[in-house]
Amino acid sequence: MTTRSMRAAVLREQGRAVPYADSRPLDVTTVELDAPGEGEVLVKIAAAGLCHSDLSAIAGKRARAVPTVAGHEAAGVVEEVGPGVTKFSPGDHVVLVFVASCGHCGYCVSGRPNLCESSWQARANGTLQSGARRLSEHGAALNHASGISAFAEYAVTSETSLVKISEEISLIDAAVLGCAVVTGFGAVVNSADVPAGATVAVSGLGGVGLSALLGAVVAGASTIVAVDVTPAKLRLARELGATHAFDANDPGLVEAIRDATGGGAHYAFEMAGVPASMSACYAATRRGGEVITAALPDSTATFAVPLAAHASDERVVRGSYMGSCVPARDIPRLVALHLAGRLPIERLRSRTIALDQINEGFDRLRTGEAVREVVTFEEGGK
Ligand SMILES: NC(=O)c1ccc[n+]([C@@H]2O[C@H](COP(=O)([O-])OP(=O)(O)OC[C@H]3O[C@@H](n4cnc5c(N)ncnc54)[C@H](O)[C@@H]3O)[C@@H](O)[C@H]2O)c1
Ligand SMILES: [Zn+2]
Ligand SMILES: [Zn+2]
Repeated sequence: MTTRSMRAAVLREQGRAVPYADSRPLDVTTVELDAPGEGEVLVKIAAAGLCHSDLSAIAGKRARAVPTVAGHEAAGVVEEVGPGVTKFSPGDHVVLVFVASCGHCGYCVSGRPNLCESSWQARANGTLQSGARRLSEHGAALNHASGISAFAEYAVTSETSLVKISEEISLIDAAVLGCAVVTGFGAVVNSADVPAGATVAVSGLGGVGLSALLGAVVAGASTIVAVDVTPAKLRLARELGATHAFDANDPGLVEAIRDATGGGAHYAFEMAGVPASMSACYAATRRGGEVITAALPDSTATFAVPLAAHASDERVVRGSYMGSCVPARDIPRLVALHLAGRLPIERLRSRTIALDQINEGFDRLRTGEAVREVVTFEEGGK
């Protein structure tokens, strides 16, 4: 079979009004998916998470090639492999990651495949790594989201978008590994390389921020301050290992973090995507401290740095993309930690939903009501 019909959530235009339950920016409809080409794999999606980066695409805060089948955080089962694929076989359980990699550009060869040159270009163009589009509707091509397009029954991806995982972890649990967990945990463990005993603050307790918190627990941070505007998220953070939890709207926030960390955090993680949160993180670090931001706010957002104090305090401001990860190295480690009971990623999942409920799901992410909602697909598809 060369082309299959399947259900998918298509983002036709950016910037529709809220609530999305009414404006329905994601159109759940039937589209066509071509067979995998050279170096590509057909995956049957089992579960796909709703991430704030999808929300930013829906809202038009960051430009995207549309129309596109949305979704970039998922797990599934290999259905078919294209020519030349040797690392995967039908039946393999896989996590999909949102940056494919070529293996030979300057970034890939220096251990930074998360910054792969050609993947960057492919994503901007809405294609797979190969430059192809395998999705279409009534004969017109549809764009791929981050080389994944996971809000669909099936996805064709580059083989470098996939990491094989143990069948011991459930695919519903594993769905959040490919974005939220690899990003948040990796920001702590790879980008910042937080040593045991350090003091840490995390601002923004969505899937990414809570994964950073879980990373700080595994890294052995002595103090972990969690910050958000939503009381339920502060409570969840405490259950997951935060030693302190503060309301971001408290005017005494920075002082409270500085007190809790004995004079300022060694590391502060901006995971909210809000400039005020970035400024608070910067102010809450100690001399020699480091601010790490993985958040992707509106593409025009900036933040001011006091230059003299930045130099004399030896502060560091670091960006972190996909947790500075090497997917084939890091995803199996995350699975192993989860299976050992040390990475309770199932606690990030607020609920599972059907594909038809995806617009309502994005409303709950937008208002802060949900952490991760995960779309699950019926066994056997439509
Ligand atoms: N760098 C990467 O590789 C990468 C990967 C995935 C997501 N992201 C980005 O990371 C960010 C977080 O993603 P998410 O899916 O966890 O989002 P989310 O919406 O689930 O979480 C954001 C959290 O920030 C909280 N918040 C809002 N205003 C705040 C404030 N002023 N101070 C503190 N907290 C505040 C919200 O209540 C919410 O809990 C987004 O910007 C997303 O686009 C980046
Ligand atoms: Zn994401
Ligand atoms: Zn590369």
